[in-house]
Amino acid sequence: MSISYRLKYIAGLVTAGSRIADIGTDHGYVPVFLLREGIASHAIAVDISEGSLQKARELAERAGLQDRMECRLADGLSGVLPGEADCIIISGMGGILMRKILDAGLETVLSSREVILSPHRNPELILEFLEIHGFTLVRDEIITDKKRSYRVFKGCRLPED
Ligand SMILES: C[S@@+](CC[C@H](N)C(=O)[O-])C[C@H]1O[C@@H](n2cnc3c(N)ncnc32)[C@H](O)[C@@H]1O
Repeated sequence: MSISYRLKYIAGLVTAGSRIADIGTDHGYVPVFLLREGIASHAIAVDISEGSLQKARELAERAGLQDRMECRLADGLSGVLPGEADCIIISGMGGILMRKILDAGLETVLSSREVILSPHRNPELILEFLEIHGFTLVRDEIITDKKRSYRVFKGCRLPED
């Protein structure tokens, strides 16, 4: 499996040992990479499209990772219960859709320790979300892959006392 520089960069921001959820996983490249590299301990790959999810399932099976990667057909974070993921990854969609997914899945987002978000458009909506909900912006990068630029954010929540 070869994975793009953009997706490898996103995966590289995940804290080692995390249980991750990748929303809008498509081929499942990010969760498979994270499990294969020993960065994630468990992965939930979510997509609203059965066709995409089937690609992710097949990739996990080919890598022998089907026991540690759950593929869930769902709309956004409705596929992930609060407390199931330490790290939530959403990339490769516009900021309007991403913000809708984050707002609708707020309880699950707030139960995670970190979020890695890479909107293709309207990044201001994602920055606003992180600020409103008390995330510390630990990374705000612009990366270039195949002559296209991508904004990548990592937000962390401090554990409450
Ligand atoms: C362009 S792909 C991005 C794939 C990968 N995350 C990346 O960054 O390359 C967008 C994926 O998001 C999925 N998607 C769109 N809306 C969604 C939603 N509401 N919930 C879950 N997945 C969604 C699509 O089916 C598609 O597989």
